Amino acid sequence: MKISIIGAGNIGGLTVLRLAEAGFSDIVLVDIAKGKAEGKALDLEDAGAILKYNYCIQGTEDIAKVKDSDIIIITAGLTRKPGMNREDLLNKNARILKEVCLGIKKVSPDAVVIIVTNPIDLMTYLALKIMGSKPYKVFGMGISLDAARFTNLISKELNIPYTDIEAYVIGNHGEGMLPLPRFTTIKGMKLDERLEDKKIQALMKKTLERGHEIVSLSGSAYFAPAQAITVMVKAIAKDEKRILGVSAYLNGEYNTKDICIGVPCRLGKEGIEQIIELDLNKEEESAFLRSAESIRKHLKLIRPFCHGL
Ligand code: APR
Repeated sequence: MKISIIGAGNIGGLTVLRLAEAGFSDIVLVDIAKGKAEGKALDLEDAGAILKYNYCIQGTEDIAKVKDSDIIIITAGLTRKPGMNREDLLNKNARILKEVCLGIKKVSPDAVVIIVTNPIDLMTYLALKIMGSKPYKVFGMGISLDAARFTNLISKELNIPYTDIEAYVIGNHGEGMLPLPRFTTIKGMKLDERLEDKKIQALMKKTLERGHEIVSLSGSAYFAPAQAITVMVKAIAKDEKRILGVSAYLNGEYNTKDICIGVPCRLGKEGIEQIIELDLNKEEESAFLRSAESIRKHLKLIRPFCHGL
């Protein structure tokens, strides 16, 4: 199995290490910055020699080297800097994504592609349009990371292990995300049977603010994102049929059409093998539709990048 990662920054570099440790032995790391991917690949291979793991990591500036990859992860792009608004980030990253996706399309049109570049839901949509791939082959990472954050906060609040918690979050990977306490369980018991509503609301708010909290304290989040990507790659490579939250292209599911947004999906060797439709109540459904709307209203900003394809 050949895995390629575009973007050898914080998330890309750490993801390579996690994947190599998980037993993936043929990895290509690409970055536009001269020498960056090559240098990281050498360092990562030295780490393998310490562990006596025989993996091979090729670092390069040449995107054509991702040829015939089974899975490609895109982490190329900017992180939001203080003073940069979302639209600036969107424009800059859309430009980068377009270049990267056109490169992938030439040499690896059938790969499963995982988008990590922010804003994830819009970048996933753009990647799909540029590559013209089947919608189940291209999806975004974001929302499973938010579910992990919700899990962690519940665990700390109730002093119980992560393994006892099954947390659900849907919606956009951003302010419009929707933690779902009614679907979240602790050892099979509903969260609202274990915690009073006021506490649940506070945990939901903290989940929403978590990304911003980490960025303002340490500059960026990459440990948990790299872990979330690794779990997805394993689910695909090992055909696990595991349910994980991903930004998926909806075509009528959840009464939503023609956007990518976070929903639970069954992942297997083809990519998304099933979109799971949760039985939302009226209130949850309107919150989800609001979240979808917040993505849809930005679609006009990325449409110019689809012209002339
Ligand atoms: N091709 C390849 N690599 C590129 C390109 C390109 N066209 N443009 C930028 N890059 C590389 C940069 O050189 C940098 O090494 O992408 C890398 C991004 O790394 P970091 O700045 O460390 O960002 P990181 O924290 O890894 O986040 C990457 O994921 O979660 C999102 O918001 C985050 O959009 C950001 C992305």
